[in-house]
Amino acid sequence: SGAKKEQWGTRVGLVLAVAGNAVGLGNFLRFPAQAAQNGGGAFLVPYLISFVLMGLPLLWVEWAIGRHGGQYGHHSSPGMFARLGRARWLKYVGVFGLFTNLTVAAYYCYIESWTLAYVWHSLRGTFEATPPTTFFPEYLGTTNSDIAAIPYEAAGFFLATLTLNVWLLSRGLVRGVELAAKIGMPLLLGFGAVLAIKGLLLGTGDPGVVESPLVGLNFVWEPQASGLFNPSTWLAAAGQIFFTLSVGMGSIHCYAAYLRERDDIALNATTAGTVNEFVEVILGGSILIPIATAYLGLAAVQAATAGGSGFGLGFLTLPTLFNQWGWFGPIAGAMWFGLLFFAGITSSLAMGQPVLAFLQDEFKVKREKAALGFGLATLLLGGLVVVLYPGGTFDEFDFWTGTFSLIVFALAEVLIFGWIFGIDRGWAELNKGADLRLPSFYKYVIKYVTPLFILVVLFGALVKPSVGWSEAASQLMSTGAGRSRSTACSASCSTSARPAATSTRAARSRRCS
Ligand code: PHE
Ligand code: NA
Repeated sequence: SGAKKEQWGTRVGLVLAVAGNAVGLGNFLRFPAQAAQNGGGAFLVPYLISFVLMGLPLLWVEWAIGRHGGQYGHHSSPGMFARLGRARWLKYVGVFGLFTNLTVAAYYCYIESWTLAYVWHSLRGTFEATPPTTFFPEYLGTTNSDIAAIPYEAAGFFLATLTLNVWLLSRGLVRGVELAAKIGMPLLLGFGAVLAIKGLLLGTGDPGVVESPLVGLNFVWEPQASGLFNPSTWLAAAGQIFFTLSVGMGSIHCYAAYLRERDDIALNATTAGTVNEFVEVILGGSILIPIATAYLGLAAVQAATAGGSGFGLGFLTLPTLFNQWGWFGPIAGAMWFGLLFFAGITSSLAMGQPVLAFLQDEFKVKREKAALGFGLATLLLGGLVVVLYPGGTFDEFDFWTGTFSLIVFALAEVLIFGWIFGIDRGWAELNKGADLRLPSFYKYVIKYVTPLFILVVLFGALVKPSVGWSEAASQLMSTGAGRSRSTACSASCSTSARPAATSTRAARSRRCS
């Protein structure tokens, strides 16, 4: 079939596409907020340890499973997992790597569409007249008392975003995904560099600036050992590593499946992961927090990121601050939201491709129809999410689809890889055609350390990530671990800085981008 023959065009294209997969809204909205919420530099140490002991090994395992499955014509995880052993249940584990993409795409594409709308409104100068705190609720239709009323503009941008995704996916891997990455990634890096430099050069002599932006930068960057002893910091760090590297989704597997048998994976996977970390820590850490700190002070920034989301700062605060930049303001706004848009679309394509590949491989659906299938499913699911969680409160949905199932899937795959496929076979697979020599102690890390690490994270995520263990345990018991539908959570986490945990679930579902 056509799907079987599809392959990446060039190595540069491949690296950009897999970096585009990882680099997403998580790097610019989620990381800075998570860092700010978890003590800045105190976050950094557990974060880097999670990257080395969990993130990197998972990346390698996923690339290996993906390339291996691709040789049998499987580009989505159910088929790939069936090839890891004899057991019939293996392919059902792979189903996780299909559904998570769809469910995350449902709200991810919606947020992506906001960034597109914001590019347009920044260029039009909308935010010079209307503060985003007024604009945004109107745009989302949350001010309308008639809840059945459709917010036409938001719906229009959502449709446009989905159409663009479907169109790119329908063009095939090289002419769609690779093209988007070749255009989007350089622009993203360029816009990011301009904004970071402009922001960091702000001084207390500039109008409106109350604090040096370096205070914000220093806060994020200065490593503090205290985070090492705080379980909630560890959970937040591990959760961020999952989300930002796109592991536990089935998305990496899919991209790796379009490699040839002896194409390198060790170096590619390591490069893509490192590029993501570079963009996250360097660019992600040097824009939102330093600029906001310069104008608002550090305490206000920490308050605005309560709940671990950068939505408030990114969509509500930053456009107002850009107004201080004169003629450059609208351009800065377009760059910020343009950057977010490119980050978003290269990631949502990576969520679409596995679904597309599944329909192509297993049901022989034509590529164009499969792309349309992904678009329609995302529209329906997205519409449902929008109705269920007005105002962008995808917290609960996001927790189960975008955090919980990722962790479960990752645990399963690393165990299957190390113990069923077998670590010796797995290690050989990983090193086949490798352009980078992986340190051999990682064989043991993959087999023992990473699964244990994930197990602890899984347990912690179920208990409650934002408080200490003992408090979590007592709360869990008093609520009977029940998750009753909470209205406390429907106070929008995106349009206001969410107050500290109002319910067990509100506390444990902290992902907002
Ligand atoms: N890694 C992306 C981000 O940081 C999100 C993502 C998850 C992309 C899963 C693809 C698959 O935003
Ligand atoms: Na990322």
